[in-house]
Amino acid sequence: MRIFSLFLFGAILACQPAQQESTETASDVDPYSFGSAIVQPDTQRLPRRIAFGSCADQNRPQPILRHVVDRQAELFIYLGDNIYGDTEEMSVLQAKYQMLADKPEFQALRAAMPTVAVWDDHDYGANDAGRHYPKKDSSKAMFMDFWGVPATSLRRQHPGIYGSHMFEENGQRLQLILLDTRTFRDHLLPNDGQGDHKNDYRPNPNPDSTVLGEAQWAWLETQLQEPADLRIIASSIQFGHSYNGWESWTNIPHEQQRFLDLIARTRANGVVFISGDVHWGEISRREPERMYPLYDVTASGINQDWDKIEPNTYRVGDAVAEYNVGMMEVDWEARRLTLLSIDQDNRERNRVEVALDSLRF
Ligand SMILES: [Fe+2]
Repeated sequence: MRIFSLFLFGAILACQPAQQESTETASDVDPYSFGSAIVQPDTQRLPRRIAFGSCADQNRPQPILRHVVDRQAELFIYLGDNIYGDTEEMSVLQAKYQMLADKPEFQALRAAMPTVAVWDDHDYGANDAGRHYPKKDSSKAMFMDFWGVPATSLRRQHPGIYGSHMFEENGQRLQLILLDTRTFRDHLLPNDGQGDHKNDYRPNPNPDSTVLGEAQWAWLETQLQEPADLRIIASSIQFGHSYNGWESWTNIPHEQQRFLDLIARTRANGVVFISGDVHWGEISRREPERMYPLYDVTASGINQDWDKIEPNTYRVGDAVAEYNVGMMEVDWEARRLTLLSIDQDNRERNRVEVALDSLRF
């Protein structure tokens, strides 16, 4: 019986009547099962090698996942477009998740380490979709089951997929914040062909437009108030780059600034962003006012690339045009962090060394 999901479905409808999905009815089906064993993160240990990636077409092989296993990563963070669902039919979405579950390289990854995930537009359900996508609740239920989010997780108890994990060992703490950049996000402003705008979108100056929505902002503030030595913020879309007209936090600049202001106000140490979506890999480094250097490691994609990489004034190192994943190595004794881009041939394409204590107010 899908008891927990039934309860949740009712709760979501009760508190969000505006988002009611008239075509959906709760049904007596088992939780979605995709047949692969799921390892949960062990929060009593600090991981030393954390890998992450995004943009994985379920129709094609994903051999780069073998390199992640070979490198003995201890955690893999999926950053969205984890499948290309692109449908409002949940049976189609389920079949596409099943294609990922059936891949031997994905099974090897999942057997070797815990996997946690956020979603982006294509696994949420539609290209560049935000809060108007009509199947968000059904898609969330499947996401939660596929990624093995426990029935007791707070992530299942509110609209959207945001949540966090706190790892702690020997008095040091790693916080992993998983953002939902889809469920609450307003329409983006199309490129009007004027000025410096290019590609699909121009920045939206309307102060009412949002990426995260107020409930997630309030939750995020409480998260940033938690003490942590390193704080990985998983955002499906890029945060630290310069405007390029594709989807990212630069589409809604006042929300990007709100994030910086929130980090400064809560004096949250150790923030490093990781992101996906764009089909190339790069590391951005910004120096916002009133805070320490802010890195964004973009890992994209697992088996997706793009023919035109956009300029980025904050990029440090190479833009990686080939399939790639990101990696974070943490020497907790020396309090050193290494940010890496790893390409499809298992070559290190970017390597940035950061003293953990340089990421402090
Ligand atoms: Fe995307």
